[in-house]
Amino acid sequence: MVGLGTGRAATAFVHALGAAVKGGLRVRGVPTSQVTADLATQLGILLARLDEVGQIDVTFDGADEVDPHLDLIKGYGGAMVREKIVAASSKRLIILVGAGKLVPIVGSRGILPVEVVPFGLPLCQRRLIELGCRPIVRLVEGRPFVTDNGNQILDCGISPIPDPAALEQSILSIPGVVGTGLFIGMADTVLVQDDEAVEVRHRADR
Ligand code: A5P
Repeated sequence: MVGLGTGRAATAFVHALGAAVKGGLRVRGVPTSQVTADLATQLGILLARLDEVGQIDVTFDGADEVDPHLDLIKGYGGAMVREKIVAASSKRLIILVGAGKLVPIVGSRGILPVEVVPFGLPLCQRRLIELGCRPIVRLVEGRPFVTDNGNQILDCGISPIPDPAALEQSILSIPGVVGTGLFIGMADTVLVQDDEAVEVRHRADR
């Protein structure tokens, strides 16, 4: 039972998994977005719903930032809420990134995506500003981006985050916030591609 992430790296993984399935591998996938579900179906990968499977063996996904503790920021693709649910349902989370995603401190690339219920948008914006973030509604072709959950994304301008777990708790306490792109203590392994080489990093405590 394999969790299937969202984004370019996850898409490359799904293509490779599809080839393995054509070669006889027996596997079922739990997708983190409709885009990934559609791709997996096209490639002949059998899908399963989270309520059917309970626990997932391993999830493969990308990330937008990876710090030296293997804490992450995700969600530049807008799928982080389902990605976090699938990751938390998995025995192992394996992250696939290029070396350009490595940062010394999470927040270094300056954006933290936060998914919010549209009704709560004004309150969430005010409270995020009070927390020192600079929230901007994510737009696609001039219209608010809508997630697979029917919500909107506030891309929060941030500086490198000294205490990501504390910021996560503060943001989650705002009524209307559904989830953030912070993935603290979730990744077990990160595969870092640098040209032809792949470096394997494991979380120190696992
Ligand atoms: C989707 O919401 C994201 O979390 C992606 O997994 C992340 O943005 C990495 O995407 P890329 O592999 O496309 O960079």
